[in-house]
Amino acid sequence: MTDLDHATPNDRPAVPAHVGIIMDGNGRWAAARGLPRIEGHRRGVEALRRTIRAAIELNIRYLTVYSFSTENWSRPAAEVADLMFLIKRFIRNDLAELHQHDVRVKIIGTRDGLKPDIVGMLDEAQDLTHRNRGLTLVVAFNYGGRQELAAAVRRIAERVLAGELAPHSISTETVADHLDTAGIPDPDLIIRTSGEQRLSNFLMWQTAYAEFVFQPGHWPDFDRCALESALAAYMGRERRFGGTTAEGPLKVKTAL
Ligand code: IPE
Ligand code: IPE
Ligand code: MG
Repeated sequence: MTDLDHATPNDRPAVPAHVGIIMDGNGRWAAARGLPRIEGHRRGVEALRRTIRAAIELNIRYLTVYSFSTENWSRPAAEVADLMFLIKRFIRNDLAELHQHDVRVKIIGTRDGLKPDIVGMLDEAQDLTHRNRGLTLVVAFNYGGRQELAAAVRRIAERVLAGELAPHSISTETVADHLDTAGIPDPDLIIRTSGEQRLSNFLMWQTAYAEFVFQPGHWPDFDRCALESALAAYMGRERRFGGTTAEGPLKVKTAL
């Protein structure tokens, strides 16, 4: 148990159940030190390890990390190759330990364009851990929110064509159920490091009512302290979900 435990009926502070992180600034972290960009990405993997550990200790249920976007293919081929190498190394080195800690790994994004060895490793990570009941670590890899929505629309259209679904019955739940994140609650809090204040095609649908915390520090410097600071900012927010008053029944307990 931690002092940042989940909400209880007697108004205790609520830790967000689902935190999403746009891990940004690896390149600038490296450039500021006269190092190659890959060194920033390497140190970014270490920050990811620290963050997973902290998320488990802080009793966060779902952690989604943006590790490679569908637009990141536009980077120089050598950097893309470095990023592919690092995800493979991360799975190879860390999967057993994640499994030991009861972490359930879920990969979102498209497999299109990925080499078979990476696809195999992503599948292995999911298959090995799918019965685990601790932290769910959602890795957004080769992920784009618009691409995910388009794929969901295609699947829904196919079901309509097959006569399984009537167009008038298509609801927001139908769309959510056809996204890669089906079954995962929407993120409560999105953190983006490195000072940028944009979504960059991350979880467009799912962030409709997320709280956003932007931090100036670059991702390789992220640690438990930065996570706790984002959680504290979140807990000081009032989430209204379109409702009217802070005192009304729609108030979600996020006050410290
Ligand atoms: C985030 O750091 C990692 C990925 C996008 C894969 P960047 O590589 O975007 O670092 P900056 O934004 O160029 O500093
Ligand atoms: C978003 O960061 C993608 C990831 C963190 C994986 P980018 O660095 O690619 O985003 P832009 O290009 O600055 O919007
Ligand atoms: Mg960036």
